[in-house]
Amino acid sequence: MAPYPALLALACCGLALAAPPALRDLADARGVSLGTAVDVDALRNGGRYAETLAREFSSVTPENAMKFEVVHPEPLRYDFTAADALVDFAEAHHMQVHGHVLVWHEQLPSWLTGGDLSREALAAILRSHIQHVVGRYRGRIAVWDVAAEAVDEEGRPRETFWSRALGPDYLALAFRWAHEADPGARLLYNDYGGEGLGAKSDAIYRLARDLRARGVPIDGVGLQMHLSLGDRPAAAVVKANLARLAGAGLTAEITEMDVRLILPATPAAASAQAGVYREMLATCLAAPNCKGFAFWGFTDARSWIPEFFPGWGAALPFDEDYRPKPACGALMDALRRR
Ligand code: XIL
Repeated sequence: MAPYPALLALACCGLALAAPPALRDLADARGVSLGTAVDVDALRNGGRYAETLAREFSSVTPENAMKFEVVHPEPLRYDFTAADALVDFAEAHHMQVHGHVLVWHEQLPSWLTGGDLSREALAAILRSHIQHVVGRYRGRIAVWDVAAEAVDEEGRPRETFWSRALGPDYLALAFRWAHEADPGARLLYNDYGGEGLGAKSDAIYRLARDLRARGVPIDGVGLQMHLSLGDRPAAAVVKANLARLAGAGLTAEITEMDVRLILPATPAAASAQAGVYREMLATCLAAPNCKGFAFWGFTDARSWIPEFFPGWGAALPFDEDYRPKPACGALMDALRRR
């Protein structure tokens, strides 16, 4: 128990009078990475964004900088400017990089989707894309989201550009290609809405389990965890899901957590939000196969929520002025408690 809980709560997350440990130090002590998505434009501006990021987090995920349309904007041209800036920052601050994302049906360039290309041509493109991107950062990116959102809400294989282009085996191929390019990286399947139990999470579980049983080099499942107060899984079902993944030899990570609130957010909502963060982090910490816990951004000044969920926001642990919210204290609490 902390000697002065009130003082520590006040000083949470680094805004210290007498410097308390940062989230990342507490997470290190528990053997999990504490991560966040990063907007590389914001990072380049430095200031409080970069300071808070370096101080509090041990892992970074590029919010957009490694997506297909960004790194591979033309058939024969790659652009790693933003991706390199993030990887360099991470290395300078002893952070892990979580690569995101190789096979996804969003944010694809039009030369690819509108190109009327044959199955053979598309397979060759995806293979060289994966091998070029993963190979560039071989040994420097600890974990990759190889494939994402390939299962629909009912638990069926989602029909996407890639599934139509390459046929049902495209996921196995993608994992094999990524593994060839960096045998040391941990490879994940990442999705939303499959955190607890239900048709979608059952399908994700079976997909990952069956790939692994076939010898496909998949390490685990990323649970995105985009929640709201009214739409979130109970801790007990997340726990059960993590346990069944472990039973199949799979790791798991919370990859993109946020808890959106209706704006303007009330103090009561902020406190309920803190409870959700606490509970999900504690659930991950209690599961031996849960290796990482990451947010989709860390400051309300930079979040995808207001644009994608109009009327909602305030979803992250730090407010628009980089001040810790109740969620921050709750996360510290979960990290301290054994
Ligand atoms: C979002 C980014 O945050 C936005 O900036 C972008 O315009 C669209 O994509 N699940 C994912 C992420 O896996 O890649 C998405 O990121 C958010 C939902």
